[in-house]
Amino acid sequence: MAEAFDIVIFGGAGDLSLRKLIPAMYRAFMEDGFSNRSRIIACCHQKEQAENFVELASQALKKQLSADECSEESWQIFKTALFAVCVDVDDIKQGWSQLGGLLAEYPQRVRVFYLAIPPTIYASCCENLSATQLITPQSRIVVEKPIGYDAKSAAAINTKIAQYFNEKAIYRIDHYLGKETVQNLLVLRFTNVIFEQLWDAQSIDHVQISISETVGVAGRASFYNSAGALRDMVQNHLLQLLCLVAMESPAKLNEQSIRNEKIKVLESLRPLIDSDVDSHTVRGQYVAGNIDGELVPGYLEDLGEPHSSTETFVAIKVHIDNWRWARVPFYLRTGKRMKSQSAEIVIQFKDVSHRLYDESAGPMLPNRLIIRLQPKESIQLTMMTKNLQKLDMELQPVTLNLNFSDAYQQFHSDAYKRLIMDATIGNASLFIHREEVNAAWAWVDPIIDRWQHRDTQPDLYRAGSWGPRSAAELLADDGRAWLNVADNDG
Ligand code: BG6
Repeated sequence: MAEAFDIVIFGGAGDLSLRKLIPAMYRAFMEDGFSNRSRIIACCHQKEQAENFVELASQALKKQLSADECSEESWQIFKTALFAVCVDVDDIKQGWSQLGGLLAEYPQRVRVFYLAIPPTIYASCCENLSATQLITPQSRIVVEKPIGYDAKSAAAINTKIAQYFNEKAIYRIDHYLGKETVQNLLVLRFTNVIFEQLWDAQSIDHVQISISETVGVAGRASFYNSAGALRDMVQNHLLQLLCLVAMESPAKLNEQSIRNEKIKVLESLRPLIDSDVDSHTVRGQYVAGNIDGELVPGYLEDLGEPHSSTETFVAIKVHIDNWRWARVPFYLRTGKRMKSQSAEIVIQFKDVSHRLYDESAGPMLPNRLIIRLQPKESIQLTMMTKNLQKLDMELQPVTLNLNFSDAYQQFHSDAYKRLIMDATIGNASLFIHREEVNAAWAWVDPIIDRWQHRDTQPDLYRAGSWGPRSAAELLADDGRAWLNVADNDG
């Protein structure tokens, strides 16, 4: 069990805190991750939120957790670890002394300051933490992605935070790295000789990485409208997944070695400049449609504005210019209000070099490895076999299916739980280093610039579809197609 700590959540009554952080802390608590001597101190913007915080947390847990995870007995203990103060992050006269008073009760404890607030007020938050002398040698700061909205603003934020916290005390979260299935990627690659031998341009035709969501942006539309899918999902989650699929084996399993390999991948991404952006990227925006039989509004209605060129969907063709991946395209795709919710990586192998069986035996499909990160976590390997029920030679693809969600039925994967607990014990291996942020923005910035300068509108797609037609064309032009794995689920 972790030593008692204090975690201070700025934006304590906000969406991220109530939807993700508090449930994650409750799960950690239930699994004996910490005792109720530790304190979760929610800094709320409004007085009523602070006064009603325990009730807000209780409602959030009921909404976010499944019935088997909730226990009245545990809640009664957990809630004694909850504290709330009304703090104006921007104004040192509002609530900071009360926060200081609380923290002063345990000056030696590990303090984790979690910034679940917009990046625009990170700087004032750090300044006020420093001015009120709340930053102790045992303090750490956790910041959410995306850091900034381009390389320049990210550098400014990182520099500002670095005035008050040294790099070792800064934990930049990309919650995808906390997902158990994402960590499993490295295990799969580096502990199985059958994959490692085939993991390169000699054997792999292309890779697809897709994160599709059925949710829209209602509730956070104003933030989303200034970000868009490229900043919200590609700059961080998708590029991190790409790094884990493409990187070389780290020399050691520590944060430094893993990060070095990821940075090499990011620096090998072929830059998309000017017209490359037009030919290699697709942006989309959803219009009203049907998801699971329910009519849902379009993006502009969710936003409540008549115009917006913000993309809610992105597809990109990426090349990694190094020996391992020469001429192997990586297709990245993400979108809101898509047909189904899933995150998966498809490794499409090449055709065999010589076709032994003639056409009458039927089509021969290349091997395919599908790593489903969520939901229904699984690994599937498709291979060719003989149809044993036929006398004649008939080729038949079959799929070996390793279904983790069946194997671990009681397991509630929670990326935030893992990452918050790591921050309390000082394990930064699943967090992002400043240089990774820089390298990711350096690749993303020219795409944003081009989109802005050309001033074109995103391609529209119907909610409940797999994105705009242009996304399918991006692959069709290369003689390929997206594999919409969820379409084949029962
Ligand atoms: C967040 C994005 O980082 O990730 C959201 O800001 C997105 O827009 C979310 O919905 C997706 O995370 P998950 O874990 O639900 O796939």
